[in-house]
Amino acid sequence: MKLAAVVLGFAVLAAPAFAEPGPTEGGVVYETRCKMCHATGMANAPLIDYLAKLENSAILKALNDPAPMMAGAIAGLTDQDKRNVAVFLTKKTLPASGDLPEVKAE
Ligand code: HEC
Repeated sequence: MKLAAVVLGFAVLAAPAFAEPGPTEGGVVYETRCKMCHATGMANAPLIDYLAKLENSAILKALNDPAPMMAGAIAGLTDQDKRNVAVFLTKKTLPASGDLPEVKAE
């Protein structure tokens, strides 16, 4: 049982980036890449309640030009991952941008 849980956990972490647009996919990014700091305020990270009040543009800016504390932890996220997690946090729809599709809030 225990080993299965470990193997499953590893499979989730090792899963490839999520290509589908949507806040559900963004929730997975949050769980695996953001929560360890933003659910606890670790290293003075602002809490998720605060992030939820930001605009999508502010989240994307923080992800595209991250604070040094965050840079390593979020390395490798695709533009789609960033847009998904922004909509997951703000619950505001992001319009299409360039060849990236709209991410609809639920
Ligand atoms: C290693 C810990 C850590 C991880 C992981 C992390 N962050 Fe952060 N984040 C921080 C810290 C610390 C700050 C504050 C930086 C500062 O103000 O200098 C911050 C700031 C931010 C801000 C800016 C808030 C503002 O005031 O404008 C946003 C947005 C944000 N994080 C979103 C995310 C998202 C989304 C993820 C996951 C994809 C993430 N962070 C992962 C530590 C982390």
